[in-house]
Amino acid sequence: MNVGFLIEDWAHIEPGKSSTLLLIQECMLRGHRVSVVYPSNLTVRNNVAHGFCRVLQEMEKVPDSAASFYKKVKFEEQMLPLQGFDCIVIRKDPPIDPIMLNFLDSVKNQTVVINDIDGLRKANNKLYTTTFHDPNNAFLPVTHVSKNKEYLKRMIAESPTERMILKPLDGSGGRGVIVLERDAKENTNSLLDFYINTRSDTSNYVILQEYIEGAHEGDVRVLMLNGKPIGAYQRKPSDGDLRANIHVGGTAHKYKLTESQRHVCKKVGPRLAADGLYFVGLDMIGDKILEVNVMNPGGITNINRLNKVKLQRQVVDFYEEKVNEWAEHRAELEYIFQRLNELRH
Ligand SMILES: Nc1ncnc2c1ncn2[C@@H]1O[C@H](COP(=O)(O)OP(=O)(O)O)[C@@H](O)[C@H]1O
Ligand SMILES: [Mg+2]
Repeated sequence: MNVGFLIEDWAHIEPGKSSTLLLIQECMLRGHRVSVVYPSNLTVRNNVAHGFCRVLQEMEKVPDSAASFYKKVKFEEQMLPLQGFDCIVIRKDPPIDPIMLNFLDSVKNQTVVINDIDGLRKANNKLYTTTFHDPNNAFLPVTHVSKNKEYLKRMIAESPTERMILKPLDGSGGRGVIVLERDAKENTNSLLDFYINTRSDTSNYVILQEYIEGAHEGDVRVLMLNGKPIGAYQRKPSDGDLRANIHVGGTAHKYKLTESQRHVCKKVGPRLAADGLYFVGLDMIGDKILEVNVMNPGGITNINRLNKVKLQRQVVDFYEEKVNEWAEHRAELEYIFQRLNELRH
């Protein structure tokens, strides 16, 4: 298999923490050809999308440890057509880069792209959860998304709970997540102004959300592969912070999904897979889904360490399955076209 990983920057990978590195290493261990491409290195050459790729050189023995694999890998620079890859794996941090997706549009029907480009477009911000349709809040917290300050103030005033969460619609890594106290009215106006009108020439959507009870004990990152949970771990916020994200000081703990959390995964899993969101990270508190991370979900390293597993094997198994499926599908199409041609003549 010839796999292209679209990543931020090889130099920024942290070997002990990077799920992407484990996926690349697993592909190399299986003898696949692997290249890394940076979104800024995509190029069209006479109407065909190419990438200035860094092709990983074959290794006599691929090291077992991610750190020494990272250190020993050597590259060869090559300009390659994207359609030449059997599989393109997008592992770029959010926010989504719409132009990067436009480059990939041209290979959509020629190669496997994980996650699917249209799925990524659909799920590129936290509005995606509204497509799950959960009118009774069985698994989605009460959530409002708006730019309308008066409406948001009314929702805060009418909130049955004392505390609510305010966050940007397209945030990530815990950026800008704050608690609003219903009765601290003096702050509300100014905060809403600040979040909605960061700049004078544009305005932003914000999320106002019920504060989910139990959040202080941490949230749960669930890794979903092809619509099914393959692993989970708990993230506990550091003292004095409400955000459990690892990037802002949260710590990782072993966790077993509860029956009702599994039930929620079962409800949304088929939808994720149907949208081509094959490998995603759900953030849950209790039975409520906070967000669906689709661009570059992490967690493999933590789950591996806590549970003595190697989740990257299941993920690469899936890449292989998808590529085989696609090859069979293409062979069938070619056969049909050939028969049609014969019939025509
Ligand atoms: N409604 C909420 N109730 C309680 N805690 C929350 C809520 N929303 C976010 N948080 C905390 O903030 C963290 C980041 O929020 P999240 O919605 O996942 O955004 P991000 O994309 O920044 O990770 C969560 O992991 C959780 O710890
Ligand atoms: Mg999150």
